[in-house]
Amino acid sequence: MARAAPILDGRAVAADLTARVAADVADLAAWGVTPGLAVVLVGEDPASQVYVRRKVAETRRVGMRSIEHRLPASTDQDTLLRLVDAVNRDPEVHGILVQLPLPAQIDAAAVLDAIDPRKDVDGFHPVNVGRLSIGGGLIPCTPLGCMMLLDQIISDFRGLNAVVIGKSNIVGKPVALLLLDRECTVTVTHILTRGLPEIARRADILVVAAGSPGLVRGDWIKPGAVVIDVGINRITDANGKSRLVGDVAADEAGHAAWLTPVPGGVGPMTIACLLSNTASAARAGLRRQAA
Ligand code: GUN
Repeated sequence: MARAAPILDGRAVAADLTARVAADVADLAAWGVTPGLAVVLVGEDPASQVYVRRKVAETRRVGMRSIEHRLPASTDQDTLLRLVDAVNRDPEVHGILVQLPLPAQIDAAAVLDAIDPRKDVDGFHPVNVGRLSIGGGLIPCTPLGCMMLLDQIISDFRGLNAVVIGKSNIVGKPVALLLLDRECTVTVTHILTRGLPEIARRADILVVAAGSPGLVRGDWIKPGAVVIDVGINRITDANGKSRLVGDVAADEAGHAAWLTPVPGGVGPMTIACLLSNTASAARAGLRRQAA
């Protein structure tokens, strides 16, 4: 049996962050503020339904207000934009999350553009995307969660080689900017990058967000590397059983210094960071009122 890599336990780190958010929510209550998160789900995508159910449950668990809007798959663009406008104006809503993907008839970019950047707890609005590159703004939840996991084990990022596999707006691009901000030497790659295994092998920090089960094999990983597996892929194994696997072949990664498991790694961090961003947005609103 192959040696397993030490596990960087996202559930434990997320529980810690969630407890801190709950304390912050209790503190905000003294100012008469209950942070509110509006979640908009359009259609019946099964994975989105699972994610939204978890987000709503965690929001309530920390004492925040959860406002759910479920719309049919046939919803048109104008209807969705009107809803976004209403939640933008609602003083009890401090954070807004429109679950992606949206049905094909809806222009997702136009919907994200319509969200008030101060309530954009996903960090997907162009204003927050721009702020990320110069510092500040609301940071997308999954990249923020990746950085918090890395902070558990790395105290000085300066000069480390970080390789990101994946170039999405949700994970790859923002996590690359965050690593650059810590003065890593960052290489952003994707599934079509030539010589990807050799590039990955140079990484002290390897962040994999390619959406490709088992893409990263053992010989892509430098001994002693820290590997953050962002992939969440549902596969059916040879016995016909369905299970979640990451983008890293975990059973070949025993020589990594640390590996985030799937499930139980980055996933719980994404939700904890969503709660943290919502509490931050509520606090920023309170500061604006006081000013
Ligand atoms: N779909 C997959 N990941 C995300 C996310 O982080 N936020 C939203 N809104 N939708 C998603």
